[in-house]
Amino acid sequence: MTIPAGPYAASTQSAPVTEPELSPEEQQFNDLIAADSRIEPRDWMPEAYRKSLVRQISQHAHSEIIGMQPESNWITRAPSLKRKAILIAKVQDEAGHGLYLYSAAQTLGTSRDDMTDALIAGKARYSSIFNYPTPTWADMGSIGWLVDGAAICNQVPLCRASYGPYGRAMVRICKEESFHQRQGFEILLELMQGTEAQRQMAQESVNRWYWPALMMFGPPDDDSPNSAQSMKWKIKRHSNDELRQRFVNMLVPQAAVLGVTLPDPDLRWNDETQMYDLGEIDWTEFHEVLAGRGPANAQRLQRRRDAHDEGRWVREAAAAYAVKIAARKKNASAADSKDLAS
Ligand SMILES: [Fe+2]
Ligand SMILES: [Fe+2]
Repeated sequence: MTIPAGPYAASTQSAPVTEPELSPEEQQFNDLIAADSRIEPRDWMPEAYRKSLVRQISQHAHSEIIGMQPESNWITRAPSLKRKAILIAKVQDEAGHGLYLYSAAQTLGTSRDDMTDALIAGKARYSSIFNYPTPTWADMGSIGWLVDGAAICNQVPLCRASYGPYGRAMVRICKEESFHQRQGFEILLELMQGTEAQRQMAQESVNRWYWPALMMFGPPDDDSPNSAQSMKWKIKRHSNDELRQRFVNMLVPQAAVLGVTLPDPDLRWNDETQMYDLGEIDWTEFHEVLAGRGPANAQRLQRRRDAHDEGRWVREAAAAYAVKIAARKKNASAADSKDLAS
């Protein structure tokens, strides 16, 4: 091709555009992502991918652990032995979820101690939903139905996350979460079939939890800085707004079965989009809670710190026992090799 001569000739001549050279590891990483395959701990990964995963998985783990608090508040006051047993099992499941997720994050080279230190120092984030109080028994129903329900919508697509240990942890977690949601639904159903006071208690609780549950999906898509990259890396598969919409579409028929009203006067079916239109979410409240000014932020963190201090002797005892066992094994194998030598 000939370059036109003249006054603009110099500026129209640009250097040929070449793709930046990728290292073989980088190319392999990109190929694995493109093939919808999994990245494993032994594989090379870009530092930003690793960082993003550590941030997401540790936040998720912290949420499971802090999330035990609003519900454990009701263990001693559950209305029957059956409900107490179910609630204890559920809270225990959440502890297990925290542990799978801390383990998944550890495969990325970050230590459990560092993650715990960040949490108790107030430097790490966890889901804002757990900064709301649980003043009534019906809140155990609303948490199961709405909070675990929102968690399921968020987490089912994460079972296919590109990072292997995260995706596999999510498969197990999601199975348990679906029980959690059903037990919450059942608590509300029983209350809604009870006395007028019980029905009011259930409705009042749903009124308090509905909007914070919608906020669990994170800010709207146009205000979600990490989403696009996370979707490119196939950690995340759907946008915040898409998942929020799915959740509401699922809730509306369930609310009708329960006989509760969802507290959104603008919620209505849209024939054109074949989806429900939602009212405005109060993002000021979301940012306030996120900034640590929610109803129970300080209390949740203090409780976690106290539990960490109270558990110190257990950790120290376990560490001392591990040293003792290691020494015993070493002595035994030394004795074995002596026997073999003689
Ligand atoms: Fe969980
Ligand atoms: Fe759960």
